[in-house]
Amino acid sequence: MKITVIGSGYVGLVSGICFAKIGHEVVCVDKDNSKISKLNSGVIPIYEPGLKEVLDEVVAAKKISFSTNLKAALQNSPAVFIAVGTPQDEDGSADLSYVLAAAKEIAELADSYKLIITKSTVPAGTGAKIKKLISATSPDLDFAVASNPEFLREGAALDDFLNPDRIVIGVEDKKSQQILAEIYAKFPTEKLVVSDIITAELIKYASNSFLAAKISFINEMADLCEIIGGDIKKLSKAIGLDSRIGEKFLNPGPGFGGSCFPKDIMAILNVAKENKVELSLINSVITSNSQRKIRMSEKISQALGGEVRGKKIALLGLAFKANTDDIRYSPAIVIAAELAKKGAEIFATDPEAIENSKRELVEFKNVHFVSDAYKASTDADLIVIATEWQTYRELDFSKISCRKIVDLRNLFEAEKMAELGFEYSFIGKKN
Ligand code: UGA
Repeated sequence: MKITVIGSGYVGLVSGICFAKIGHEVVCVDKDNSKISKLNSGVIPIYEPGLKEVLDEVVAAKKISFSTNLKAALQNSPAVFIAVGTPQDEDGSADLSYVLAAAKEIAELADSYKLIITKSTVPAGTGAKIKKLISATSPDLDFAVASNPEFLREGAALDDFLNPDRIVIGVEDKKSQQILAEIYAKFPTEKLVVSDIITAELIKYASNSFLAAKISFINEMADLCEIIGGDIKKLSKAIGLDSRIGEKFLNPGPGFGGSCFPKDIMAILNVAKENKVELSLINSVITSNSQRKIRMSEKISQALGGEVRGKKIALLGLAFKANTDDIRYSPAIVIAAELAKKGAEIFATDPEAIENSKRELVEFKNVHFVSDAYKASTDADLIVIATEWQTYRELDFSKISCRKIVDLRNLFEAEKMAELGFEYSFIGKKN
């Protein structure tokens, strides 16, 4: 099928390239000229493992093109995905201006039937807003709206798209359902969850809120273990083996970050507030997670005897998780800023996120950026592991003289670290 994808940011690009990979003819449209010319010359403006290889493959097969011309793209494609950004407004709600602008533009430019599908994460009720806007802009246009939320994890997006747990489609009529079923025909039909539009929109927010709550839950269990004892790894494994709970997303850490969980839970709270519904559980997840990042810097300070001023700290990892250069809401960035404010000399590193972090931490002259973990650890008083990059799991400790580690990702076995002579502190370790 001929598909137009509006917005060549993270979601739009991954989706567009994957739609092409499963055999569709895709045009990715973006207003940003320089982005489009880069993409046309094979350069991907985001970091996502494996994406470049698939892009090269679908470009060679002539299944994808990149353009700034929406009118031309729309000409032959019945299905149009809106995958533009929904940044967070000051009050925590999702800013829909890009989504609505894209919808309006479709209404102005389309001259045949269109199914307009929202892939951007939008609050419940947005589908109805889009419908109203398009009808008002172009009363004669034959169209329908639909919702098809994405469940792509940064760093694992290709696999999430090509091997999904489920594909959610929210539709208002049979024709829309048929078009979406055809788009996803390569996947087993039992993966399709068909609902109305508002339910599909809610599923996205509910999924992210639930996962965020799951992480906060295990983090609080780790806090309990730190005081009364108990092995958080065993606890996590054992509760996860209960199939009603499930083993994924039970790794304790420095708190969740990224561009999705923090933003989406604020947005669902906003929708609830507007409708006078109290979501007290989700509210407490926000509190729990923001306190956690600060507590992590206190934990680090304790490992240095309560005073970090003048101490040299190697900070391994800046991205909010491994396999991405994204530092939005990254716990590592909050921790670096907290420690820098207290006068520590921080030598930070990350395989992908240094450039982004430099911009974010520019005000701190005592945060220095170095190319790898070994350089960061030279003469360090303490090593802090903040992101679970594979390269940190494979550290050659014979090349590191510092023997004090605070591991916020529980990468190593405590006994082994003790054998290697480390004073090894981790999440859930009794103090
Ligand atoms: C998340 C969801 O996992 C995707 O399904 C969703 O599509 C996406 O948001 C989105 O809304 O677009 P992402 O933000 O890329 O994906 O990252 P996750 O892998 O979910 O991790 C989020 C945060 O939770 C990270 O800071 C990570 O370190 C943390 N985390 C995750 C833990 O602390 N413990 C865990 O066990 C798992």
